[in-house]
Amino acid sequence: MSAVTDLPVWQSLQQRIEPALQTPIKSLFSDSQRFSKYSLKVQNIMLDISKQPIDDETCALLLQLARDIGLEERREAMFNGERINITENRAVLHTALRNRGGAPVYVNGADVMPVVQNELKRMRTFVKAVRSGMWRGHSGKRITDVVNIGIGGSDLGPRMVTQALKPYADDKINVHFVSNVDGVEIANVLKGLNPERVLFVVASKTFTTSETMTNAHTARNWLMASSFDSRAVAKHFVAVSSNVDAVKAFGIKAENTFQMWDWVGGRFSLWSAIGLPIALYLGFKQFEELLQGAHDMDLHFRNEPLERNAPMWLALTTLWNSTFLGRQSQAILPYDWPLQKFSAYLQQAEMESNGKSVDKDGQPVPYTTGSIIWGQLGIDGQHAFYQYLHQGNTIVPADFIGSIESSTPVEGHHEKLMSNFFAQTEALMCGIDADHIRADLTAKGMSSEAIERLIPHKVHEGNRPTNSIILDRLNPRTLGALIAMYEHKIFILGSIWDICSFDQWGVELGKTLAKGILPELQEGVIKDGHDDSTANLMRYFVEKRKALLDND
Ligand code: F6P
Repeated sequence: MSAVTDLPVWQSLQQRIEPALQTPIKSLFSDSQRFSKYSLKVQNIMLDISKQPIDDETCALLLQLARDIGLEERREAMFNGERINITENRAVLHTALRNRGGAPVYVNGADVMPVVQNELKRMRTFVKAVRSGMWRGHSGKRITDVVNIGIGGSDLGPRMVTQALKPYADDKINVHFVSNVDGVEIANVLKGLNPERVLFVVASKTFTTSETMTNAHTARNWLMASSFDSRAVAKHFVAVSSNVDAVKAFGIKAENTFQMWDWVGGRFSLWSAIGLPIALYLGFKQFEELLQGAHDMDLHFRNEPLERNAPMWLALTTLWNSTFLGRQSQAILPYDWPLQKFSAYLQQAEMESNGKSVDKDGQPVPYTTGSIIWGQLGIDGQHAFYQYLHQGNTIVPADFIGSIESSTPVEGHHEKLMSNFFAQTEALMCGIDADHIRADLTAKGMSSEAIERLIPHKVHEGNRPTNSIILDRLNPRTLGALIAMYEHKIFILGSIWDICSFDQWGVELGKTLAKGILPELQEGVIKDGHDDSTANLMRYFVEKRKALLDND
């Protein structure tokens, strides 16, 4: 395939950059149909991209670009189990995990649906047993607390979803998460727990991740320290992994091990048994609703024309802002408290997928790829970093996410919350100019000298792009669809940028170095071969630590 930058449509898009930068977004609303043209509803999600610096011509070109790079064929290749993760020679089939219709999906000529369904069945049985109290701890007590030990994709999904769907949980099971190798986290979690009533889920696709294995061993020692013998492991530990041998070596039996497969990427794995804590917390029915929502979005993505396709719209707004207009960062701003971990979740999903700088042939790409994803709850952000969004000299496109109805209604709160959502998106696009400020301050009686001094500080230029995503109500099905919408956005962007979105080689170097550095810190001997800065920092750490520990 020729380089994407050689395509005529790429050149045409470049011609649109200057006009886009010169045209205030709000002026695009001279087209009275703009809102209806640039908003759509898919399941219970309304997506509005009308506040983007995209006119009809640019939009048509972006869609054309997607077609010219063969997006529709690439989409089919993913759904059909082709090995699109080329550097690891793997299929990418998180969609099969939520393929509720059960239609066959082949990898290497074998239908994966029977194993997917079998694992779901095993999960259902296990979840039922734990939640009903049939499954008991070693001393015969009911399980009340589930601790998920995992990191990255083996943590963020279940952590985000259980937080988001808390209003749908009953009080049968509490969930806790331990991801960090900083001992403070596991110590804090274990402090409040009764070992007789805890179930640990050790979640690791590879079962070699240092943070997870360290925490799993600490958890096992904690259990043993409670006068249990090693037989207790069978009642208090289950694993989720594709490395069955390593799980066995840890001491968890095959019947307590849930499978995942090499065609499930860590950051796309919450639909697999990695979602076990979600199902244990909410019940299996709610987990199935989550899968159904994602499946519905898969059908939308696969079948709707690109012109009215929600993941496509999300992708084209990012593509335009980032690759063409040079806006490298993107904020995710939920106005729905339960979604407070959503930006952290998307940060891994997008940045680990699309933070790449060579194309599929290993050639450097001459354009900006993945965005810097960040954010937090919008309301809290308003009192922290929104100053920068409104008046900073870097433009940060933002996705605003809110709901029509709160999942936990409290009289008098929701309209106030959403008034901020609308006010912020309006302010970011429309801004406020000197004339309005002058008129306002004059009406308040300020001297014209003081007014003119203040005006430059009070002007909001506006023209800052946002997407608005409005859910009917955050529930398992809608959340499943929302996550899947972003997953497909990531796939589309990676396809257009022609990068491999499904590997993560960039995390390996640091891991390897840490492995070598650990014994140096433990033995207090800093070896040759480090750069001078790192060697001195390590020496400082070792010497200072020894002195502090000797003083204790
Ligand atoms: O270090 C990055 C990473 O490999 C992620 O891609 C993955 O989600 C995470 O680590 C955890 O990996 P595992 O599930 O194998 O422990």
